[in-house]
Amino acid sequence: MTSSADREPAPGAWTTYRRLLGHTVNYRGLLVVAMIGMVVEAAAGAAFVWLMEPLTNEGFVDPKPEMALVLPLAIIGLFLLRGAATFCTDYGIARVGRSVVRDLRELVLGKYLRLPSSRFDTEAVPQMVSRLNFDTEQVTQASADALKMIVADGLTIVFLLGMMLYTSIKVTLAMILIAPLIGVVVWYVGGRYRRISRGIQTGMGELAQSAEQSLAAQQDVKVHGAQGFEQSRYSALANRVLRLNMKVEATRAMSSALVQILAALALAAIVWVAIHESLAGHLNPGEFIKLMTAMMGIIPSLRRITNVQSVLGRGVAAAERLFAILDDAEEDDRGRHRVERVRGELVFDRVGLRYARGEGSALEDVSFRATPGTVTAIVGRSGSGKTSLVRLVPRFYEPSSGRITLDGVPLADYPLADLRRQIALVGQRVALFDDTVAANIAYGIDAPRESIRAAAEAANAWEFIERLPQGLDTPIGENGALLSGGSASAWRSPARSCATPRS
Ligand SMILES: Nc1ncnc2c1ncn2[C@@H]1O[C@H](COP(=O)(O)OP(=O)(O)OP(=O)(O)O)[C@@H](O)[C@H]1O
Ligand SMILES: [Mg+2]
Repeated sequence: MTSSADREPAPGAWTTYRRLLGHTVNYRGLLVVAMIGMVVEAAAGAAFVWLMEPLTNEGFVDPKPEMALVLPLAIIGLFLLRGAATFCTDYGIARVGRSVVRDLRELVLGKYLRLPSSRFDTEAVPQMVSRLNFDTEQVTQASADALKMIVADGLTIVFLLGMMLYTSIKVTLAMILIAPLIGVVVWYVGGRYRRISRGIQTGMGELAQSAEQSLAAQQDVKVHGAQGFEQSRYSALANRVLRLNMKVEATRAMSSALVQILAALALAAIVWVAIHESLAGHLNPGEFIKLMTAMMGIIPSLRRITNVQSVLGRGVAAAERLFAILDDAEEDDRGRHRVERVRGELVFDRVGLRYARGEGSALEDVSFRATPGTVTAIVGRSGSGKTSLVRLVPRFYEPSSGRITLDGVPLADYPLADLRRQIALVGQRVALFDDTVAANIAYGIDAPRESIRAAAEAANAWEFIERLPQGLDTPIGENGALLSGGSASAWRSPARSCATPRS
């Protein structure tokens, strides 16, 4: 059973929903087409029900020859119209929905790439990917479903109910008064059914666990002569599952009998009212058939629309997760000191670093000066903080204390793009992208072929690149999977490598 917590949208649900609607404004035209389609669809459905009256009265009760042609043609016409409308609705909604999925995915990925590195310590990458894949999908699916339910089913109910009231107020009122009775029973039984089903699941889990325990420890069981004990424990659980299963079956069987009896009572009451109306000359056969058909037509729409809350809730919950990401603080990039090329004097002054998720400090009181034109190597045992130290230079993390300056200017005073352009990074794990060799060498910049080749030659990679089937344009596959093992491990993106300290 869904708890009321995830059925009812949270207090901010409407804000979230409005914000989501904001993402559809670019596709307003399509949305209008879809809406018109839904109106036509519901109207055509109602018109078909309305046809039941002339069909009965003028086709059978008091047959008129021209009806043999008019009615079939009307039916074909109505369903052609309805088919076209359904297509417009489904196409329009799918187009809007798919476009919003794409927009959200682009926005969220862009956002993830701008979040500070520390965010990646608290949220696992697979979870991020699942946000991108499933949450976006769920948001649109749920909103599209909800929209269809509210508009299409809502209109169907309004049209059919209007038609029923217009035909016979008394019979319609009788139907409206009786229907909720069945609804309440179905709702009560459904709740009980779900509650017991959950009990069965837990029971099954315990049963399996008990069996696994005794079988895995069969030698201990034997040596202690505890077979009887294990057997009776298992029996008790098995009996509980049996009882729960029987409860479910009893509920199911009773509910279907009950619903049928109630439905028969309801029908009897409706027939009673209808025949009295007929005797009084207020209802003819065609009208009665029309009323019954309309009632049958309303039921599925009614059932769907009462479910709209939970569908909306699902979409809103996923949307809230996505919007929370979109609202997250990005990397701090408030530096205004623009530079093309720095000289490269890097000074660490009593720098300390504490990770948000880590006990103790990774760096404490680190001071050194790396002068331009020289090579500085940072050496230390594993876990001493070499990688952490290097991560501070491109400002992947901010120092918790102390100061880092480049050419005398604090790192935070440079725009991030300017600062990072000064740095080439070869990590402990070399990241290769699923693209061509050339694209990997010139990663992120639009370099001419000659300089890509020059870079490859400078890094002694040209020799093996030349031997690849399509040279620089060879796709390397995911993480270099299509390169030979040796080439892949020897691979260092030449344009990206430089004298950064070994990690
Ligand atoms: N993202 C992180 N969150 C929390 N703690 C971290 C994080 N990265 C590193 N640490 C911790 O900081 C300390 C320094 O780690 P670091 O990776 O900088 O060491 P290292 O000198 O590069 O080691 P190695 O030689 O093994 O690469 C370690 O105790 C490590 O557990
Ligand atoms: Mg390291």
